[in-house]
Amino acid sequence: MKKRVFSGMRPTGRLHLGHLAGALSNWIRFQDEYDCFYCIVDWHAMMSDYSDTRFMKDNCREVLLDWLGVGLDPDRSTLFLQSHVPHHAELHLALSMITPLGWLERCPTYKDQILNIQNKDLSTYAFLGYPVLMAGDIMLYKAELVPVGEDQSAHLELTREVVRRFNHFFGEVFQEPQTILTKTPKIPGTDGRKMSKSYGNAINIADDPEEIWEKLRTMVTDTARERRSDPGNPDKCPVWDLHKAFNQDMEQRAFIDKGCRTAGIGCIECKQALYSHLMAILEPIQSRRRAFEANEEDLLEVLKKGAMKAEKVSEVTIEEVIKAIGFISR
Ligand code: AMP
Ligand code: TRP
Repeated sequence: MKKRVFSGMRPTGRLHLGHLAGALSNWIRFQDEYDCFYCIVDWHAMMSDYSDTRFMKDNCREVLLDWLGVGLDPDRSTLFLQSHVPHHAELHLALSMITPLGWLERCPTYKDQILNIQNKDLSTYAFLGYPVLMAGDIMLYKAELVPVGEDQSAHLELTREVVRRFNHFFGEVFQEPQTILTKTPKIPGTDGRKMSKSYGNAINIADDPEEIWEKLRTMVTDTARERRSDPGNPDKCPVWDLHKAFNQDMEQRAFIDKGCRTAGIGCIECKQALYSHLMAILEPIQSRRRAFEANEEDLLEVLKKGAMKAEKVSEVTIEEVIKAIGFISR
């Protein structure tokens, strides 16, 4: 029996290099070894953007196109929408009954977002429970492995606590999932902060080559290196983080590392080298993406087939949950 993998992404629009190096690179690899479930979590997107949901359909489509472009394969993996499998909502309800408020109030991502996001009102009932819905997503498929970026670690920790609590009350139904990070679990954006659509610092997988170069060209570097003649420190440079994620030419990386430290090369040269490695990765992805874009009906078919495969598994879990809690079976 293959191990089960589950992961999700919010439909926030086009995906970026953080998604690619922070999570998707593992997702793609895992398709050969494991039984993979990859979910576009539209309910999660609604939690933070409930006041205007007109973006939902388009954003889901963009995410699916990016997934297919990078090589997620609907024949090997189960690709689907969270809202197409109602059991996610049902398990979320069950888990919300047993999750202590304190666990959620203490969650670092919750505290951070309530503090930092001012342009929308996130003081809703559901937003506090965001990690409970996420725990339910994973538990519904009894996933053992969850490949995500570093920013999701606290949510996975909470998932394991919810699993233990459920099992404590109702018997050993679930197992604790393991977090799987890539070698580069936190990709910085053009301003040096974590790459994120909401910071406006993202380089998207499907951006035009010219746009990518313009974003790279103006990306911040080691701020202590003001002039071309100043030696720099790659360890303090976000462009170097991108080299580590996307440039596998170790000889060239050693050359750039030394060149930076000795002011032997300038930032533009370093960025040009990165750009050519990046484009070598992105060009085939973008051309595959364009091919899928031409056929709208195929996209809907992928989601339909995915939801059917997902539901086969989720309904077994829900029946077990109903039995474990002690409701009368359906
Ligand atoms: P989200 O867009 O927040 O739904 O993220 C989807 C997945 O991509 C999660 O596993 C995140 O941890 C990961 N991710 C998003 N942004 C980054 C980033 N800048 N660096 C690494 N991983 C990321
Ligand atoms: N919370 C995740 C994010 O913001 C998305 C997500 C929802 C997820 N459910 C999940 C990730 C289950 C992994 C497993 O990126």
